[in-house]
Amino acid sequence: MSRDGRVALVTGGSRGIGRAIAATLLGEGFRVSLTARTASAAEGAAGALADEVGGEVLGLAGDVRDPEACRRVVEATVARFGGLDVLVNNAGVGKFASVAEMSLEDWRLQIGTNLDGVFFMSRAAIPHLLRSPDPWILNIGSLAGRNPFAGGAAYNASKFGLVGLSEAMMLDLRHQGIRVSLIMPGSVDTRFGDRPEGEKAGWALRPEDVARAVVDLLGYPAHAHPSRVELRPSRPPRKG
Ligand SMILES: NC(=O)c1ccc[n+]([C@@H]2O[C@H](COP(=O)([O-])OP(=O)(O)OC[C@H]3O[C@@H](n4cnc5c(N)ncnc54)[C@H](OP(=O)(O)O)[C@@H]3O)[C@@H](O)[C@H]2O)c1
Repeated sequence: MSRDGRVALVTGGSRGIGRAIAATLLGEGFRVSLTARTASAAEGAAGALADEVGGEVLGLAGDVRDPEACRRVVEATVARFGGLDVLVNNAGVGKFASVAEMSLEDWRLQIGTNLDGVFFMSRAAIPHLLRSPDPWILNIGSLAGRNPFAGGAAYNASKFGLVGLSEAMMLDLRHQGIRVSLIMPGSVDTRFGDRPEGEKAGWALRPEDVARAVVDLLGYPAHAHPSRVELRPSRPPRKG
């Protein structure tokens, strides 16, 4: 199917992986709405992408931890573009500490964003996706969803949980024609976890690598469903 004019909604599109996904989808002819917690971040990224890539892009404020905000960004996308074909659940946060040292606030931030947010956004989007001729939900998980690490309690819990949520949703929704896929990247060079961008330059994945996986998945014919992709740097630094 031609991608021209199809509609994608990307959460957490103001920077990093989400911004690269939004840019790549725009370049592929999608009309794109992207979200961030604040209007200034979302609208700023949308304006910059319109200048850099062109096409139709809408920036929307919406905290994925808030079910009503999730409903609003889905409705605003459908009102602007007339439908929804692809939801990319990308928004995510990482705060790394042991359970004893983790604040309740940081626990709730991670479970709320990385896990509740995917549930809220998917629930709001599904009624509209069901009207699309080729609907997808693409969840950006992490290799931290299969490999626990010290200091990763909340992040690991959220991303392990996302594997279960994503794959159960896939088994439900495939019977209604919606494909659900989980992309699990290893280290990507972004500001994720309050790290300076460029810190992992040279060996880590780039945001564009994850965006390429998104576009590759969307290119599969209707009878084929790659439901999980693990994407890792080819030559990470050796541990120990
Ligand atoms: N970087 C890595 O090494 C790596 C590896 C594997 C998986 N991932 C996953 O990839 C995804 C994107 O990470 P990234 O590296 O691109 O991080 P990033 O550069 O920190 O970007 C995170 C994005 O999510 C948005 N966001 C955060 N909380 C939100 C909320 N509650 N509601 C709506 N938007 C929110 C941020 O926007 P605002 O701050 O403007 O709201 C920003 O656009 C995450 O799910 C992460 O777990 C990252």
